[in-house]
Amino acid sequence: MKFRTNISKIDRCSGLSKKAFYNNYVKSSLPVVITDKAEWTSSEKFTPEYLKSNYNHLSKTIDGKIYSLSEIIDLCKASTPENKAPYPITFDALKDFSENFGGLPEILFGKSNRLNSRLLSNFFAKHTNKHELFFGGYGCSFPTVHFDWLGVHSQITQIKGEKDVILYSPDQTPYFYPDKRHHHRSPVDIVNPDYDKFPLFKNAKAIKTTLKPGETLFVPAGWWHTTYMHDFNLTVAVSHVNAFNWNFFMDELYLNTKIHYPKLAWMVKVYKVVMSKIFNLKESLVN
Ligand SMILES: [Fe+2]
Repeated sequence: MKFRTNISKIDRCSGLSKKAFYNNYVKSSLPVVITDKAEWTSSEKFTPEYLKSNYNHLSKTIDGKIYSLSEIIDLCKASTPENKAPYPITFDALKDFSENFGGLPEILFGKSNRLNSRLLSNFFAKHTNKHELFFGGYGCSFPTVHFDWLGVHSQITQIKGEKDVILYSPDQTPYFYPDKRHHHRSPVDIVNPDYDKFPLFKNAKAIKTTLKPGETLFVPAGWWHTTYMHDFNLTVAVSHVNAFNWNFFMDELYLNTKIHYPKLAWMVKVYKVVMSKIFNLKESLVN
């Protein structure tokens, strides 16, 4: 995978054409904040009040206790760094909030998002084709530094509140001591690192960006990242696979299949080659 590491800040762009986005960011594996593609986030349908009155039938079990959506929103609104709301709390945006999210324009990171294709079976998509809606509050942060499972690109669109995203380029992987079985997660606590245990982490160079409502961050496949919230937060995350990260995605899928279904792993290798040709041909017909 190609990537550049000599960047010290993340670009913020509006009016970016599909071609410029693909050539300048996706192909170079560089994160970027797109500021003008999610005006829908200002709709009153995404206010905590609207969600509480229209979706209170939804619930989540947290530490053995069932919380209604209203209770979850109240927990997130009351969150402080000393008394944090549980995080992450996620829902399936398209299934649970179909009225709000159905039909919203998707930001394409290439000619298509192969995860949405009927050619990719659910066995291979492994639930990465969900739109995840995250609720959070002041002081919440993602529990581990990680790169997104199966080497997908991520679209993080901020709906409410502000969120810091801290990113590290993929060439810094050795500094994160990834777990052998779950190699997309790091055991390093980046806020209070144990340098005796993880001395190489001293070399890690982070880039931080802050997302505001209506802004979308493109996180290229393989970039390590975590998040920190400043207030009540509502964020939707969408995974993408295109020509650029297809091999990464299928190689990660192969490793995963080898662990869980060793006898079927060879199928993933064949599928990778055959489907790559089919997707490339199909996409060559798209402008
Ligand atoms: Fe992530």
